[in-house]
Amino acid sequence: MLLTDELFERGINQKEICSVIDDNYVLLHKTMPCSDEELTEYINNMKKAKKNGIDLSCITDYKLQSGATHTFGKIAYTKGVFIEERAKGITHDGNTDTYLRPNKEYNYEEVARKYLYDLTSYIEKLEYFALGTQEMYDKFVSDYVNFSKYNIVIDPKPTNFFFDKDIGFTIIDPIPKHNGYKDDIEYFPSYIAGAVFGYGCPYVSAEKSRRFITMDLLIRLNNATMNIVNKLTTALRKNNLNEEDIQKGIQRFTGRIGYNTEVIDINDLSDCIKYLHTNEQEKSL
Ligand SMILES: Nc1ncnc2c1ncn2[C@@H]1O[C@H](COP(=O)(O)OP(=O)(O)OP(=O)(O)O)[C@@H](O)[C@H]1O
Ligand SMILES: [Mg+2]
Repeated sequence: MLLTDELFERGINQKEICSVIDDNYVLLHKTMPCSDEELTEYINNMKKAKKNGIDLSCITDYKLQSGATHTFGKIAYTKGVFIEERAKGITHDGNTDTYLRPNKEYNYEEVARKYLYDLTSYIEKLEYFALGTQEMYDKFVSDYVNFSKYNIVIDPKPTNFFFDKDIGFTIIDPIPKHNGYKDDIEYFPSYIAGAVFGYGCPYVSAEKSRRFITMDLLIRLNNATMNIVNKLTTALRKNNLNEEDIQKGIQRFTGRIGYNTEVIDINDLSDCIKYLHTNEQEKSL
């Protein structure tokens, strides 16, 4: 798809980085970590990776914002409007923990409702990831391992991965490979697990953190996690990643499931949150 003047105008004026054009394309207004000259090569490298089978969303057309190029240290940045293939499926949002500030008043019923919504959404997301086949997980890990062959590097933030149960994983938003870059392969298992587990299952966080959860949700969380861990571990081993790195990478997420977790009755949720918040305040007075 090509960038018309009309789409360029729309891109320049959009508030968010990304807006949807249709089922297959998005419009991005963003900064790229490369000079104008490097940009052509960067886009060609993305296309080459995709042609060789890597599941990656490519830029199809763009126009730079005049005067937007600048350098910061050794790295150049440029800004413009880009059309990119739309990655299908779900991704992780940022951290969804509930933070309660000391000495601030809250409507605990409302806090409880929002927390329960975030907790349930997170578990539903993992259940969706668990629908992926072993082949999809194998392909994702092999794409990850082969990626930097194309002179582009994955930015491992969980928001840069999408998953669709019929398509599998898609990578977006890679970084051009700069001189001297070496894959930090020992962290790959951790990054790959992070793409699936995101920022982790939500907590309520005051001075201390607690994951309040019902038995029903805890069982669902454990089942989805175990299902994913089995497929991920198999995929990481098939791609010859180091066993100790695999264990460490997976453990970062599974090791915390039971940590500070309290199984509660759903009707007690707002009282539990209130107690966590106010009890600590009393102590600090
Ligand atoms: N090709 C795409 N298909 C679907 N969604 C996209 C695509 N590109 C960007 N997005 C959405 O817009 C968000 C921001 O885009 P992008 O990752 O390119 O910028 P960013 O500056 O790295 O932001 P972020 O910190 O959210 O990753 C993504 O996290 C994603 O939700
Ligand atoms: Mg991104």
